[in-house]
Amino acid sequence: MEKFENVTYFNHPLIQHKISILRKKETGTNEFRHLVEEIAMLEGFEALNDLPLEEVEIETPIEKCKTPMISGRKLAIVPILRAGLGMVEGILALVPSAKIGHIGLYRDEETFEPHEYYCKLPSPIEERTIVVCDPMLATGGSAIDAITMIKKHGGRNIKFMCIIAAPEGVKALHEAHPDVQIYIGHLDRCLNEHAYICPGLGDAGDRIFGTK
Ligand code: PRP
Ligand code: URA
Repeated sequence: MEKFENVTYFNHPLIQHKISILRKKETGTNEFRHLVEEIAMLEGFEALNDLPLEEVEIETPIEKCKTPMISGRKLAIVPILRAGLGMVEGILALVPSAKIGHIGLYRDEETFEPHEYYCKLPSPIEERTIVVCDPMLATGGSAIDAITMIKKHGGRNIKFMCIIAAPEGVKALHEAHPDVQIYIGHLDRCLNEHAYICPGLGDAGDRIFGTK
C-alpha cells in the first residue's frame, strides 16, 4: 500500500490484540461495545498528542504556580452515526469536557453510496480541533461526505479516527481531504463485492447495537 504522510497506523500490541477479539464472530454485543470504546481511547491518546496547552495558574499545597492544561472547550468529537457512536465514550474518557457533534449517514446497500440524514455540530466549529470517528473506513464514501459537511460548516482542523480500514478507503479519503490526519487501528486486505472489508469484522453498527 502506498504511504501517505497524513496517515498513522497503530502498531501497539494492545490495540492489535483488542482488534483481533473484535473481529471474532463469536464476540457478543456487550464485549464488542467495550472493546470499541477501549480501542478508541488507546487511539485517541496518540491522535490527540498535539492538542494545544495553555498555562493556567493553580495553587499546590506548597505554593502558586503556572502549569499547562488542555482547553477541553477546543475539542469536538463527531461520530458518524450509527457505528461512530461506539467510539465516543472512549475519547471522552480522555477529554471529558469535549463537545459532541453528530453526522447521520448510511450506506445504500446496493450502490454503497452514503446518504445524509442528520448534521448537528457544536459551535464555534471553526475554532475547534475536530475528531471524526467511525470504526470502519471501507470505500471511504461516508468519511469523505462527513468531512465535506463539516468543512461546509467552517470546520478546518479535522482528524479522522477509525479501527479498521480498507486500502481503497484510505486512498480515497487521502485524495479527497489531504489536509485531514487519518488514524487507523489496522489496515485490512481489500473490499469484497458488497463493499465489506476483508477480513474485517462484519457490520460494525449491527454488532455494536445488536441489530441485524
Ligand atoms: C458503516 C460504517 C461506516 C460506513 C463505511 O455504516 O460505520 O459509516 O459503513 O463504509 P464506506 O467507507 O464504504 O462509506 P453503515 O452505512 O452500515 O451505517 P450504520 O453505522 O448506521 O450501520
Ligand atoms: N461498514 C461496516 O460496518 N463494515 C464493513 O466491512 C464495511 C462497511
